[in-house]
Amino acid sequence: MAVNKRTALIAGNWKMNLDHLQAIAFVQKLAWSLKDAAHDFDAVEAAIFPPFTDLRSVQTLIAADKLSLTYGGQDVSEHESGAHTGEVSAAFLAKLDCRYVIIGHSERRTQHAEDDALVARKVQAALRHGLVPVICVGESAEDLKVHGPSAIPVAQLQRALDSVPGSADIVVAYEPVWAIGSGQPATADQAESVAVALRNTLQEHGGDEMSSRTRILYGGSVSPSNIAGYMREPNIDGALVGGASLDLAAFASIVRYQKHVGS
Ligand code: PGA
Repeated sequence: MAVNKRTALIAGNWKMNLDHLQAIAFVQKLAWSLKDAAHDFDAVEAAIFPPFTDLRSVQTLIAADKLSLTYGGQDVSEHESGAHTGEVSAAFLAKLDCRYVIIGHSERRTQHAEDDALVARKVQAALRHGLVPVICVGESAEDLKVHGPSAIPVAQLQRALDSVPGSADIVVAYEPVWAIGSGQPATADQAESVAVALRNTLQEHGGDEMSSRTRILYGGSVSPSNIAGYMREPNIDGALVGGASLDLAAFASIVRYQKHVGS
């Protein structure tokens, strides 16, 4: 196994779960649990993506207690400001010290008809404000049958990278739609082969430096029992975790995958 130099990233996408009071309790317990276990945040970064209404509380807690957790929004507007009822700008997220923002999650693509062009504009909005976009790509079960595993994720990434300079700090999340919330994760081999195709896309777009520096996550039914398999793969640098990120013990165990990577 080639050991890469990219810092692993375990990202918890809470989706529309946990209000701001529940978020405070959860973040406190997560931080204690990782601290008790002497977790090395320099080796494995742990990030959470709460709903917008939680972010101010999460920011305040993390800043006051100097916690090593990072966080971000689950979506962002393509616009800067103005008459866009219900939208949240990248400037607002940056002001709350978000490091990241998830862009193009398959639930946004399907439930809100977000297309690749909009995803690309949102990526630009994030970068303008110093946020690191976590760009989600992935094929549906139908796409998989028709196009095979990597064609759609690669095409989605190419379009999302339109106008992104090779020097930009981004994260790519490969999330096969058929694996999200289904309990049917991709195998580590499957995920690695798409990660290789995505890394080649980064290389073609932004050169060797972008390709070797950018973290590629796998997402879709990640659990404490399968994380180690993904993390053994040379091109997978972390996970975007949905359901299991709401279970404190499960999420902490995924963050601490190094303790069971040999198992
Ligand atoms: P899941 O969700 O871990 O519940 O499959 C992943 C995601 O949607 O990011």
